[in-house]
Amino acid sequence: MAVAVWGARGWIGGQVCELLEARGAEVVRAESRLEDRAAIEAELDRTRPDRVIVAAGVTGRPNVDWCEEHRRETIRANVIGTLNVVDVCTERGLHVMLFATGCIFSYDEEHALGSGKGFTEDDRANFAGSFYSRTKGMVEELLRCYPPELLLVLRVRMPISADLSCPRNFITKITRYERVVNIPNSVSVLPDLLPVAIEMSRRRIGGIFNFCNPGVVSHNECLELYREFVDPSFTWTNFTEQEQAKVLKAARSNNELDCSKLLAAVPDLRVPPIQESLRKLFQEFKTSRS
Ligand SMILES: NC(=O)c1ccc[n+]([C@@H]2O[C@H](COP(=O)([O-])OP(=O)(O)OC[C@H]3O[C@@H](n4cnc5c(N)ncnc54)[C@H](OP(=O)(O)O)[C@@H]3O)[C@@H](O)[C@H]2O)c1
Repeated sequence: MAVAVWGARGWIGGQVCELLEARGAEVVRAESRLEDRAAIEAELDRTRPDRVIVAAGVTGRPNVDWCEEHRRETIRANVIGTLNVVDVCTERGLHVMLFATGCIFSYDEEHALGSGKGFTEDDRANFAGSFYSRTKGMVEELLRCYPPELLLVLRVRMPISADLSCPRNFITKITRYERVVNIPNSVSVLPDLLPVAIEMSRRRIGGIFNFCNPGVVSHNECLELYREFVDPSFTWTNFTEQEQAKVLKAARSNNELDCSKLLAAVPDLRVPPIQESLRKLFQEFKTSRS
């Protein structure tokens, strides 16, 4: 059973390929560019995968601010490219799992910070404060037009990996900021969730899913765990969202996503609540260093 992966050299795609291979799957690391429809078709004709995983897209370096000044490149990959690969695959009856983002929402009156009422998969994007999020929200709306049985869209948020030296890891990022906001958010702990993603793809589950651990965690809670388990001398300085806005090109999304659809879809696969998950992650990290 061959699985074609777009974005195999990326942070999330690389981890997905390793997990697939550890489970004995044959992985085809797709080489075609997302915006090149003919090349995608030729690659699928040549490699004949049974299903497809898309972890390709532009996220911006060093961060999403890059997308503000590279709008056409962002559209080419995240809009035209994503629609191309989904369109070609679903036309051929191939199941596609797409790593998308939950950074298309922002706390509002109906989903107020601290209310415990998260955005659901039926909610439409309400955050367009960055060009990255704007394109992702628009694409999600268009993806709703594809057959849900062939398309699985996973809304990932502020991913956390077990590797604390990785600059893409949300925890690592915030330990390196000069000043950090302190807002509760839904986040995705990849060691919990990537095995779930692979199983959802294998089961050919379809639809849009909030793809996070249940609950929310604040920046300070993460940094307190870092201080407790990694560096007792660690200190940090908070600043407000208004102060943060002065040092960023684009706004950042803060939200809680409701994970009940995910938990109901894979009741046999455990996705631990965020505080439990992070404590375990840090504990394992500490043990691995001692
Ligand atoms: N990291 C996050 O914070 C985060 C959060 C939520 C959602 N996501 C989503 O998850 C997906 C993967 O993210 P990531 O963090 O793993 O990103 P990443 O490390 O930047 O990897 C992205 C991958 O996509 C490939 N790619 C980019 N443009 C392409 C194109 N036009 N055609 C073909 N391949 C292309 C890149 O290959 P090249 O280097 O060859 O261009 C790279 O392998 C993205 O769609 C992202 O929006 C990420």
